[in-house]
Amino acid sequence: MTFPRLLASCTVTAALLMASSLPLRAAEATHTFQIGKDDFLLDGKPFVIRCGEMHFARIPPEYWRHRLKMAKAMGLNTVCAYLFWNFHEWEEGKFDWSGWRDVAEFCHLAQEEGLWVLVRPGPYSCAEWEMGGLPWWLVKNDKIKLRTTDPAFLNPAIRYFQEVARELKPLQITHGGPVIMVQVENEYGSFGKDTAYMGALRKALIDGGINVPLFACNPPGAIANGYRSDLFQVVNFKPGAAKRSFETLRKFQKTGPLMNGEFYPAWFDMWGMPHRTTDVRSFIGDVDSMLTNHQSFSIYMAHGGTSFGLWAGADRPFRPDTSSYDYDAPISEAGGTTESFGQLRELFGKHLLPGETLPPVPPANPVIAIPPFKLTEVASLSANLPAPKLESGAPKTMEFYGQSRGDIIYRTELPAGPEGTLSAGEVHDFGWVFLDGKPVGVLDRRSRRFHVKIPARSKSAQLDILIEAMGRVNFGQEIFDRKGLHAPVQFTPAGGAASELKGWQVFSLPLDAAELAALKFVKGTPAGPAFWRGSFDLAATGDTFFDVRGWGKGVLWVNGHCLGRFWNIGPTQTMYCPGPWLKKDRNEVVVLDLLGPANPELAGLTKPILDQLRPELDFARRTRAAGTFSTNGAAPAAEAQLKSDIVWQDVKFPRPEKGRYLCLEAVDSLDGKPDAAVAELDVMDARGEPLSKERWKVLWVSSEEIAAESGDAENALDGQPATFWHSQSAAAKPGYPHRLVLDLGTPVEIGGVRYLPRDGAATDSGRIKTARFYVSDQPFGLQAAQ
Ligand code: GLA
Ligand code: CA
Repeated sequence: MTFPRLLASCTVTAALLMASSLPLRAAEATHTFQIGKDDFLLDGKPFVIRCGEMHFARIPPEYWRHRLKMAKAMGLNTVCAYLFWNFHEWEEGKFDWSGWRDVAEFCHLAQEEGLWVLVRPGPYSCAEWEMGGLPWWLVKNDKIKLRTTDPAFLNPAIRYFQEVARELKPLQITHGGPVIMVQVENEYGSFGKDTAYMGALRKALIDGGINVPLFACNPPGAIANGYRSDLFQVVNFKPGAAKRSFETLRKFQKTGPLMNGEFYPAWFDMWGMPHRTTDVRSFIGDVDSMLTNHQSFSIYMAHGGTSFGLWAGADRPFRPDTSSYDYDAPISEAGGTTESFGQLRELFGKHLLPGETLPPVPPANPVIAIPPFKLTEVASLSANLPAPKLESGAPKTMEFYGQSRGDIIYRTELPAGPEGTLSAGEVHDFGWVFLDGKPVGVLDRRSRRFHVKIPARSKSAQLDILIEAMGRVNFGQEIFDRKGLHAPVQFTPAGGAASELKGWQVFSLPLDAAELAALKFVKGTPAGPAFWRGSFDLAATGDTFFDVRGWGKGVLWVNGHCLGRFWNIGPTQTMYCPGPWLKKDRNEVVVLDLLGPANPELAGLTKPILDQLRPELDFARRTRAAGTFSTNGAAPAAEAQLKSDIVWQDVKFPRPEKGRYLCLEAVDSLDGKPDAAVAELDVMDARGEPLSKERWKVLWVSSEEIAAESGDAENALDGQPATFWHSQSAAAKPGYPHRLVLDLGTPVEIGGVRYLPRDGAATDSGRIKTARFYVSDQPFGLQAAQ
C-alpha cells in the first residue's frame, strides 16, 4: 500500500511517463508471429504485412503519434523504422536512447495505434542519412574496413548491437510488444559478399535476446552476395519490377511468404536536381497485385519527413541530398494527405484482413503564415572564430581535429609573389578561398574542381579556405568520406614550381549549440559569410514553411531547433518548421549564409515549395565536356552481348587495359527501340575487384533525359539499382549508338566492367544488347570544362 505514496512523491512528468509505459511493458506474449511455409502467421493465421517506412529520426517527436495515426488511417498494419547508429552513438561509447532517440517510446506509440513494427538497426542503413547511419569517428582510422569483419569495425558495431538488443528485447512480440521482425544490415549484397560478416551481426542480435525472425533485404541483383539461409530474405524494387524480382527471390528462397522490403513509389531529392514526383497510377497496380497475391511489402517511404539538423546524406559520385525528405510519399513531409494517400487508403480498404477496419483520417495539424520579417543582427564568421588549432604540417581533414561536421577554416600566409594556382588534393565538399578577406574563387567536389587562381601579391597575404561539409556519402565504398581539406595543398606561381603549403591555423565551426551561444551579434551588414538573427511574434502556433528564396546557402535554426540546410539552387526553396517548435509571442531565428542573402528577410508560407530549380544561381555548375567524341580508330577493349535480366553482368576484358577514361558505347538495344539505359556501371581492377568511384565523374554523355524523368548519367554511378541513366527520350529521341564517357580521375588498370540493366517491367525500354568498352589515356577528343 506504499505504492500510491511513492507515486505521489514523483514529479508529475515522471508519474505520467510511468503510467503510460507501465501497461505496455508486459513481459508476456499475447500474440505470436512466425514465418510459415506459404505465409507469415500472426497468431497462427495467414498475415499480409502492409508496411510503410517512417524514420522517427526524421519526425519531430511531438508528431510521432500523429504520423502513426496517419499510417494506420492509410490502411497500413505495420511501420518500418531504421535505427541510425550515428543518431544513437554520435560520441564514441556514449549511447543515447532518450527523447528524440527513444525507440521504445516510438514502438509503444505504434502499438497503441494498432500497428506492428519492423526495425532495421543497421549497423549500416543507407537512407540518404549522414554516412548511411555509420558514426563519423570510424573514419579517423586509416585502415578500417567498413561493413566487414575487420575488428576495428565489427567490435564497435557489435557493441552497438548489444545496446540495440537491450532496447528492442522487451519490445518484441514475444514479450508482448509490437516488433515482429528485425533486419540485419541493409542491401549488403550491393556492397560485399562476406556471409561471415552477416553471420556475426545475426549472432550479436540473437545473443542479445532478439528472438523474432531476422531478415535481410536486397535488390534482386544483389541477393546472391552474402546470402545466408538463416536470414529471411526480402527483395527491394520499384514499380513494374514485382514479378521479376519475386521470381529472382524464389531462386534463393524456395518456400515461405514473398515479401518486398522496399517498394519505391517515388524517390528522394538532391540539390540542383529536379524534384521527383510519381503519378500514383504508375504504382497503385503493383500494390493491388501484391495484396491480391498475398505478398507483403513495405512502402519506402510511407512518410519521408525531414532530415533535420545536418543529418542529410549524399549520393555518389557526389550529389548531396536535400534536407526535405518529402519523397513525394503518400503522407507529406508535414504529415498531410496526398492524392496517393487517398488512393492507397481506398485500395487497402478493399483488402482488409478479417476483423480489420480503417480508422478515420486524423484532422490536419494547424498551419500558419508568418508575415515577412527582417533579420537585422549579424555575426560574421571572421569576427566570431574560436581559438585555432595549430597545424605545423600539411592540413588534415576535420576528423583529426576532433570535429565531426559543420564548417572549417584553414588559414595560412602566402608570401609576396606573382599570381599562381592554389590546388588541393580534394575538398570535401565546398570551399571558398579568401585572400586578405577578399573572395578569390570556389572549390567544388561535385565538379571535382580543386584549384583556384590566386592574384599577384606585393606583400604577404592571409589565405583563408572556408570549407563547408555537407552530409557524408551514404552509399558504396565512398561512405569513407573525410571532411575538409585533403592534402597536399600546393601553390604554383605562374611559370614556377609547385610547393606544398604547411603550417596552418585551423578553426573548427561545428555549428552546434555551444558555437551558436557564443556568437556576438551586432547591427549592420557583414562582409563575407555570416550568421543572421531576427525574431517574430506569434499569437498562435502552427506548422509553417520558411521561404528561403532570398538566401544563398547555409543552415537555419528556429528557437534553437535546426531545420536543416538550404541552397538557392533548389529544388527545395522552403524549410518545414513543425508547429510545436514555435512559441506564442517571441520566436528567434538564426540563419548561417555562406554566400550572403539577396534579401535578409524570412516569411512563413502555408505550403512548401519543393520544385523550383534555379541553376543560374549555382556558383560552380556541373558541366559536361565540350568537343566531338572520337575513338580515333582505336579498337575496343571488349565487346559484349548483354542480357535483359536484372542481374549484374560481368564483362571481363581479354587483357587488362590501363587508362584514365572509359567509354561505354551502346551499339543496339534488345527491343530494337532507340532508348539506352544503364542502372549501374562498376569498373573492376585486374583481379576482378570493383574500384572505388571516389574520383570519378561523368565527363560526357551523348544524351540524357533530364526533363521528362531524372535520367541523368550520374545515375549509372550512384550505386542505386533503382536509378538509371536514360538517353534523351522526350523532346528528341536520338538513336543508337549511345555513348557514356567516364573520367576515373587517374589512370587505372581495368580488368573488366560490371553492368546492371535498368529495372522495371519487361516492356520498359532501354536495355542494351551489344556494348563496346574503350579505355584511353586521352578523353576521346573531348575537352573537360574548367
Ligand atoms: C536503398 C536503401 C534505402 C534508401 C533507398 C533510396 O534501397 O536501402 O535505405 O537509400 O535506396 O531512397
Ligand atoms: Ca543507379
